[in-house]
Amino acid sequence: MSVPAFPVLPAGFRFGVATAAYQIEGAHDEDGRGPSIWDTFSHIPGRTLNGATGDTACDHYHRYREDVALLRGLGVDSYRFSISWPRLLPEGVGPVNPKGLDFYDRLIDELLAAGIAPAVTLYHWDLPQALEDRGGWRVRRTAEAFAEYAALAGQRYGDRVARWMTLNEPFCSAFVGYAEGRHAPGATEGRGALAAAHHLLVGHGLAVAALRAADAREVGIALNLDRIHAASDSPEDLAALRRAQVLHNDIWAEPLLAGRYPEHEAETWAGLADGPWRRPGDLDLIGGPLDFLGVNFYRPITVAAAPHREADPALRSAVDIGVAELDPYGTRHTTMGWPVVPAAFTELLRELHSRYPRLPPVWITENGSAEVDAVAPDGLVHDTDRISYLAEHLAAVADAIAAGVDVRGYHAWSLLDNFEWARGYDQRFGLVRVDYDTLTRTPKDSYHWYRGLIAAHRART
Ligand code: NOJ
Repeated sequence: MSVPAFPVLPAGFRFGVATAAYQIEGAHDEDGRGPSIWDTFSHIPGRTLNGATGDTACDHYHRYREDVALLRGLGVDSYRFSISWPRLLPEGVGPVNPKGLDFYDRLIDELLAAGIAPAVTLYHWDLPQALEDRGGWRVRRTAEAFAEYAALAGQRYGDRVARWMTLNEPFCSAFVGYAEGRHAPGATEGRGALAAAHHLLVGHGLAVAALRAADAREVGIALNLDRIHAASDSPEDLAALRRAQVLHNDIWAEPLLAGRYPEHEAETWAGLADGPWRRPGDLDLIGGPLDFLGVNFYRPITVAAAPHREADPALRSAVDIGVAELDPYGTRHTTMGWPVVPAAFTELLRELHSRYPRLPPVWITENGSAEVDAVAPDGLVHDTDRISYLAEHLAAVADAIAAGVDVRGYHAWSLLDNFEWARGYDQRFGLVRVDYDTLTRTPKDSYHWYRGLIAAHRART
């Protein structure tokens, strides 16, 4: 197979890669780190594939210098990583763990010495267990605790961090964690998940204020907004499309980008706009200006109307919205089972641009693919499918830019193969292979391709 041509992005466009703390760091009980909900959840038998945990993961906590050397070799402008909240604050609030603070000092300084801009996510799903024990995101106090943590991180690292993302994919935190139960803390609730969604947004608003007070540079959030298609144009499927839009996109984008709660069916989401967890002024807090919007994109979804799993609305989980997900895409699928449809990426970005006049500049905070990644007899990984995926999705970003969307940069997910949450270690997203027995890192062909792309971009612009 021939190597795809390098997509052409405008001058000033920046390239990076992304990771998250629990997925790569390991050292789960070292140097004073407290447990997070993912430590608890992954240790419950049956919750993750083959009982995988992040206890060791990629051992990045001890090997961060080697990993920064890999980043330097790639030539990226930006590295997006997350801070582990319970490494800084083992109980979520209260006593600070100095060794945790020191770790991110060292990482950030190593990045700066390599000429790489640190881009920090504050919350990539690893809530301190102590806060979950007091209600987790179901209670407002967790949003306030999040702001205290944001203030601590902002004051300590704000002079060196180029951009901040408060939350990563709050959809997953609220609905996969508190409604579907496939992610930590593994709850299956209706109203609890809606309260969690709201408190995550409040936590975002409070954290933005805390970061601004600490003179942080650029502040944003990373959302997994979806490009959703209806299975047909029947009134039922179009109504299902609207319900899915609310759940996946509007619950987040409407308050954040338009300062309003989404229009929705009261029966499906009792409490969404008037639950007791709402307070006057919350919309102003949530909808304050952002310096950028982070977008994570992997694949589109198609929905059709379907019966609710639970007939009694009062007993329904927040994700039981009378929708079935279909897969009519006759394209290649990644090992996650996700269809590869790059045009949907352009559609999503254009939709955001046309729908939200207040849309700030966009950064792609994640995009990538999990592939089979067999090790060839030469000991290398010739991941041509991943290279095609990256090339096609970067071309889709270029198309969106040509159509007027202000996209400033792109982060490939991920630097390393890592702990893919409930899917464990079988799903490999890295540009660099990790051998989990030896923890050896081996750059894949996609790493070399991405390095070439970045070098060609620099030479051209
Ligand atoms: C989104 C999440 O932010 C990240 O943690 C995950 O590994 C990737 N998508 C791939 O599923």
